[in-house]
Amino acid sequence: MANAWFETVAEAQRRAKRRLPKGVYGALVAGSERGLTVEDNTAAFGELGFAPHTAGLANERHTGVTVMGRPMSMPVMISPTGVQAVHPDGEVAVARAAAARGVSMGLSSFASKSIEEVVAANPQTFFQVYWVGTREEMLARMERARRAGAVGIIATLDWSFAYGRDWGSPFIPERIDLEAVRRYAPQVALRPRWLWDFAKTRQLPDLTVPNMVATPGEPAPTFFGAYGMWMNSPMPTWEDVAWLRAQWDGPFMLKGVMRVDDARRAVDAGVTAISVSNHGGNNLDGTPASIRALPAVAEAVGDQIEVLLDGGIRRGSDVAKALALGAKAVMIGRAYLWGLAANGQAGVENVLDLLRDGLGSAMVGLGRPSVGELSRDDLVVPPGFEQRLGGTTVARASEES
Ligand SMILES: Cc1cc2nc3c(=O)[nH]c(=O)nc-3n(C[C@H](O)[C@H](O)[C@H](O)COP(=O)(O)O)c2cc1C
Repeated sequence: MANAWFETVAEAQRRAKRRLPKGVYGALVAGSERGLTVEDNTAAFGELGFAPHTAGLANERHTGVTVMGRPMSMPVMISPTGVQAVHPDGEVAVARAAAARGVSMGLSSFASKSIEEVVAANPQTFFQVYWVGTREEMLARMERARRAGAVGIIATLDWSFAYGRDWGSPFIPERIDLEAVRRYAPQVALRPRWLWDFAKTRQLPDLTVPNMVATPGEPAPTFFGAYGMWMNSPMPTWEDVAWLRAQWDGPFMLKGVMRVDDARRAVDAGVTAISVSNHGGNNLDGTPASIRALPAVAEAVGDQIEVLLDGGIRRGSDVAKALALGAKAVMIGRAYLWGLAANGQAGVENVLDLLRDGLGSAMVGLGRPSVGELSRDDLVVPPGFEQRLGGTTVARASEES
């Protein structure tokens, strides 16, 4: 058998593309509309340079960090992704890989595996919620996550139901029925290994979302059924955010904050952490890369809450750049999905190893033995790189006083 190990995330992506049916692969790469944001998320990391030292370097790599009260072997955690059908073991394989590498797992509300199975695979699991349904329904889902042993909540609010992608949205069936098989057939015929993986488990990809019901095993809605409920739910206010946060006794992250004023409101709502994020370029296209917005947000609230970043992390040096610009840790999305598609649990472990090693190399070159020492001085930041979103007036007023 060919060596399944891959040397970069880019190679994992190539293998994922070869292995997955076109529609499934399309659902992973896709960003909304023109794809400006998804493109900028990765391009922006390429604009940042390093300022390495020559001698006197320490060959030590202390990458350990505690995020939302949980120790991790490195400042990288799994961002929740509601993607089905990449691999039969899905989020359980991802959770196992994360546990094997000592990092926390984020599980999407729209995931294909139950919170109970995922916590069993990785006790350091954070459950992600969207604002779907009534307050009672939301509480019931969070209560189920609590009973299952989830260690924290990630509330994701950056979603505006935009649709339309210039390169064409993938066809995602409501359920795997005859019509779906007919429409998928030509794609699947070209990807026999993917089908074989599912065939070995004697099941077809399951497009239900088991964590959207209050009790394990209760009949769950399909992805589209849940999406419809979400579209018809009222948009949450900042009071709702504070209310939701108060319902969870433990760490609580607000994911999808890009603006300084919103970061301050998140602090007022009592959150433990935020992730500076634009939903991997899947929300409002034209939003800048999250790494551009990070420095201003970290400067504004980084001494009050933990500031994480997600969007565009593809290598360990990207992790170093995000930390140098003020993030405590990063979360990854597509990078692990490609690893999962390429080689299941081992592929996700492979991706985490690459990130850890790449981060280590950057630390050695920069002469920083521990991750907490990375600083802006380690980077070459081109003029105009940073973007301060929101809160300009507030900042001026406080600067004057
Ligand atoms: C296919 C896909 C599905 C996603 N589903 C969710 C989700 O269900 N919940 C959520 O909070 N974020 C979701 N995200 C966003 C990720 O958590 C994360 O913010 C994003 O992927 C980070 O960017 P990256 O893919 O460049 O690492 C999804 C992203 C992708 C690519």
